[in-house]
Amino acid sequence: MTTRVPRLVLLISGRGSNMEAFIRAIEGGTLQATIGAVISNEPDAAGLEIAEQAGIQTRVVPHREYGNREVFDAALATEVLAHDPDLVILAGFMRILTPVFVDRFAGKLLNIHPSLLPKYPGLHTHQRAIDAGDSEAGATVHYVTSELDGGPPVMQVRLTIRPEDSAESLAARLLPLEHQLYPAAAALHLSGRLHLSNGLLELDGEPLPATGIDWRP
Ligand code: GRF
Repeated sequence: MTTRVPRLVLLISGRGSNMEAFIRAIEGGTLQATIGAVISNEPDAAGLEIAEQAGIQTRVVPHREYGNREVFDAALATEVLAHDPDLVILAGFMRILTPVFVDRFAGKLLNIHPSLLPKYPGLHTHQRAIDAGDSEAGATVHYVTSELDGGPPVMQVRLTIRPEDSAESLAARLLPLEHQLYPAAAALHLSGRLHLSNGLLELDGEPLPATGIDWRP
């Protein structure tokens, strides 16, 4: 019996460095998967060109051409489904998704958020961590629900905030960690060892901590 290589669809809005990390992880053999398509809501997202240069098909579903979020989400879901994904990866996708999309991909939709969730959902996460006097920042890969940045965490990576850190310097040190964390979390999902039931996540049948696996590079 042959099992097919798991297929990913990646959604982006901008530079696509996390998307590129998936391309490199697959090329390097650390993630056993194939990318069916990269889809952007922004026609001029820089990541589209990176994907094209890697030979990956790209699509644009321009949100401004749709009357409201639900209509956009329905069109986006149709495009994603056309590529028959096993797992959908939000990689810097900057649109809030409604249940029209989220419920369709429940349990196979991941996002990366640049904070130690449940701290700092939403925007300006690095500055908020600095302003709060936190000693650590980080990133979280989580399953997506219709609660913004509120779905069950799979994995987190932490880093120390330095006294001299700005939001920019913190983001710059965090990003390479995100690039390792995210494909690792996707690989864990694809291994079938994670199980989501009633909003709670189990690994090999054991409940995960509420903040997910504490992942170290
Ligand atoms: C990353 O910081 C990610 O955590 C957040 O958006 C940013 C996307 O960057 N969700 P990129 O487009 O992957 O370079």
